Amino acid sequence: MKKNFSPKAWLLPQPVLIIGTYDAEGTPNAMNAAWGGQWDMKQIMISLGAHATTENINRDGVFTVAFATEETLVGADYVGLVSGKKQHDKVAHAGWSSERGEHVNAPVFDCFPMTFECKVAEKLYESETGCYLIADIVNIVADEKYLASDGKPDVEKMNLITFDPIHNGYIALGKRVGDAFSAGKALK
Ligand SMILES: Cc1cc2nc3c(=O)[nH]c(=O)nc-3n(C[C@H](O)[C@H](O)[C@H](O)COP(=O)(O)O)c2cc1C
Repeated sequence: MKKNFSPKAWLLPQPVLIIGTYDAEGTPNAMNAAWGGQWDMKQIMISLGAHATTENINRDGVFTVAFATEETLVGADYVGLVSGKKQHDKVAHAGWSSERGEHVNAPVFDCFPMTFECKVAEKLYESETGCYLIADIVNIVADEKYLASDGKPDVEKMNLITFDPIHNGYIALGKRVGDAFSAGKALK
């Protein structure tokens, strides 16, 4: 027996993206975003409300995107609960340190396995409540200890978490269970 639900933001799975920016004084800021994804081969999309992050991105045109992990879960949730508008040093409070990105003027936080350095390409439906941000991925930084034997980032090593919008939870990403563009060949 199936049950019906009214339309909701229940697309699954949702990422836990950590958007890093500098404020006007050069202090690192971070926020949590679940409504984002790949837009094109080298572009991402983020549905961005009116946050301190939004002001920083509007000013600088750049930001970083890291992928939250089990180890960074508490800090990741915290930066999604508290605004840099009120808590100026929220990143320090989360216990995160960072370095300036090599390709964009935005912070790369040390505690994440993989980070995108991004440049705004376009803002769609921009208003005082936010916008849909389209951004170029200009570089990807991955910590060496998360690389697979082929030299590329290994998702299974990262302990990534996803956001569960149905019960407001974070769920650990599991293990590899198949080969994409390949497993289905068994039915061809
Ligand atoms: C699980 C979770 C998901 C969120 N997803 C989004 C999102 O997709 N877009 C958005 O604009 N805000 C999102 N937020 C809210 C911001 O992270 C939050 O308002 C944050 O405090 C903004 O920080 P800032 O003002 O320092 O930039 C989310 C928060 C949480 C906890």
